[in-house]
Formats: sequence, C-alpha cells, structure tokens
Amino acid sequence: MRTQVGIVGAGPAGLLLSHLLHLEGVDSVVLEARSRDHVEQRVRAGVLEQGTVELLEAAGVAGRLRRQGMVHHGIELRSGGRRHRVPLTDLTGRSITIYGQQEVVKDLIQARLEAGGQVLFEVSDVRLEGLDGDRPAIRFRAAGQDQELACDVVAGCDGFHGVCRDAVPEAARAVFERAYPFAWLGVLAAVAPSSEEIVYAASDRGFALHSMRSPELTRLYLQVDPDEPIERWPDGRIWEELQARLATDDGWALEEGPILDKGITGMRSFVVEPMRHGRLFLAGDAAHIVPPTGAKGMNLAVADVRVLAEALAAWYRTGATGPLEAWSATCLRRVWRAQDFSTWMTGLLHRAPGDDAFQRRVQQARLDYLATSEAAARSLAENYVGLERV
Ligand code: APR
Ligand code: PHB
Repeated sequence: MRTQVGIVGAGPAGLLLSHLLHLEGVDSVVLEARSRDHVEQRVRAGVLEQGTVELLEAAGVAGRLRRQGMVHHGIELRSGGRRHRVPLTDLTGRSITIYGQQEVVKDLIQARLEAGGQVLFEVSDVRLEGLDGDRPAIRFRAAGQDQELACDVVAGCDGFHGVCRDAVPEAARAVFERAYPFAWLGVLAAVAPSSEEIVYAASDRGFALHSMRSPELTRLYLQVDPDEPIERWPDGRIWEELQARLATDDGWALEEGPILDKGITGMRSFVVEPMRHGRLFLAGDAAHIVPPTGAKGMNLAVADVRVLAEALAAWYRTGATGPLEAWSATCLRRVWRAQDFSTWMTGLLHRAPGDDAFQRRVQQARLDYLATSEAAARSLAENYVGLERV
C-alpha cells in the first residue's frame, strides 16, 4: 500500500487531518487500533471553542453539530454555596459549543468514508520505519496479515498511550510533565441538565463539574483520589457527593437520573518537544496532555492538525518547507498557553491533599477577584473561548 500521508489514530486529530488533507487534494490512510464502534461510543470531552466550530464548518462537517450542538454564552463558577456567572460572549464576543467528542468523531468518519477515504480499524502492531529518510513506512497487522504502508510523511495522532511518540529517539526529545494528586470521575446520566450553562464548583469536599450533552443527557464530574477504583463509587455515592459539592444557598436543585456510563481518568500535564522528528509529526494527545479543567484537549488537537494540513498542502503544492519547519514551534506556543490556563484553572477549583488554610484563603481570594473584577473575568473568558492569535 502507498499513500502520501500515513496517519496513525482515528481520534479527532487523525480523522480531521485526513479530511483537511483530502480537501487540499492530498491522499492519506488512517490506521486505528480499535473498532469503529468503540471510537464512536467512547465518551470523552465536549467543549468546542468557536474557532474549532468555524473550522469544522469550513471543512463541511458541521451539519449535525449546528443542529445538535448547544451554543453557550457563559459559564458559572460556584463556591461557598454562591454562584457567579462569567459572561463569555459579553466579555469576548465569542461563544463555545457543547458537542461530544465522539459525535465529532462520528461526523468525521462518515465524511471520510463518503469521500472514499481509507480508515482501517482494528489494526495492530503498528511500527514506524525510515523516519530519518524521505521514504518512511508504517508496518502493521490487519485481518491477520502483515502489511506495509509506504508514505511521504507519518502523522502520529495516536493519543497519549500510542506508539508513535516512542519512535522518536530519546535523545531527540524533551518531555515536560506534571502529575496531579487527583483524578476525575466522569458520569453520563439520563436526566435533563439542571443548569443551562456549565457549572464549575470549588467545594471543601473537592471539585465538581456539571455539564451536558443534550436536553436529555447530563455530564458530570467529581474530583476523586488518583488510582481510586470505580467500584468504590456506586451510583448512590456519586449522586450524594455531587449534591453536596454543587449545593447552593438559593434553592437550586440537582436532578438525578440513571447513570449510563462512568469512568475515572487520571489528570496530567505533558508536553513533548519538538512535535516533529524527521518525517514524523506528532499531533494532539500524542504530543501533549492538559488537565481537563480548561476544556482545551480537543481544541488543541484540532489546532495542531489545522496548521499541519496547511503546511503539508503548501509543501505538496510548491515544495516549500518553511511552514513544515515552523509547525512544531507554532503549535507549542498554543500548547503552553493552554497548559498555563489549564493548570491555573485546576488550581483555582481543586482541593489538593496537602492544602492548608492559607492555600484555601488564596483560592477564595482568586474566586472573589473573578467575581468582582472585569479584567480578571475577561482574562478567564478569552482563554476559555480560545485565543485566536497565540
Ligand atoms: N495504533 C493505532 N491506533 C492507535 C494506537 C496504535 N498503536 N494507539 C492508540 N491509537 C488510537 C486510539 O484508539 C484513538 O482512537 O489513536 C486514537 C487517538 O485518539 P485520541 O486519544 O482521541 O487523541 P486525539 O485525536 O489527539 O484527540 C485528543 O482526546 O483525550 C482526548 O482530551 C483529549 O479531547 C482530546 C482529544
Ligand atoms: C464536558 O462537558 O465533558 C466538559 C466540560 C468542561 C470541562 C471538561 C469537560 O472543563
């Protein structure tokens, strides 16, 4: 098999890259370890920056997103039983859209297949070869057979646990990492959202988040201890804890319903530099992870491949290497802006095991500042809706 761009991973990064390249007249093949059903059902993040929505629209894959996505103009911060709204659109002129990552994945898979694109599911043993030369190849197994995909460049879009990053020699990469002393327990519940907007709650019992997926589906998260087994969280305990952490002193009520999906995800910050090695380009979670508090993960993956598709298209059109050479540094500026914002927002709202009374007072002072200073609220808002120029 031969193609121009060999893409490993059919998450938002790999699928969108394949689609954008197709629009530029560049061929690609996507290799995915899991089944189509698995990637389409996996419940993940759900907040799209306006710039992400506009890109999906321009790429012709936003039909269902426009019909079913929920456009929001503000978020709520809660602490000590009080609520404070950050009016994102008043402060920035921009909005966010809530639309599940697996819905983006479904739309992209459909668009690729309708356009005759090749997405191979359930491949295994992916190995990269010849990255330092100009004829790289991806070896893999599919349908019980060894296969080889020859290509011009490889896009490693295989997420944090993928294999592409390890194909870069250790001496050729620098890793920047931070672990957090907590994880997020996420649940999807069959009940109408209890709030019209996303609620971020800082409570003495830990952080809680109320989000949504549709008028009938609520998405909720609880800060829990890292490595906590999900068995310790029967549904009754989850609701009890959500009720306690989200409680207000003005009679707001959290509606409960059947829990359809639940899982615990560890929290980390991670960046590999540079994001390119020879003919290998690492995009999305393969290159960087941010804590989910700022809702930046999927938006960063989209930004990476937008710039990469443009750079590859320019290279194929004219032979220009400048945009490809600038790609990693261009992406890393946005990645580090998002790391700063996400770690800041994580610290603002979570309760770390060693936090003392001083730390809590500082946290409260920051929340008070956001509630009383337009400059402080605007800074949060412009990061949250996504900076156009970084
Ligand atoms: N071979 C082939 N495919 C692989 C391999 C492998 N060895 N390892 C992983 N994959 C696949 C995974 O099954 C997954 O479908 O790569 C895909 C990576 O997709 P994502 O993890 O969704 O990563 P990305 O496309 O970068 O999107 C980032 O995902 O975790 C969220 O918050 C994050 O929203 C952000 C988004
Ligand atoms: C979600 O809806 O899944 C969500 C919302 C906000 C976040 C993270 C996740 O910060």
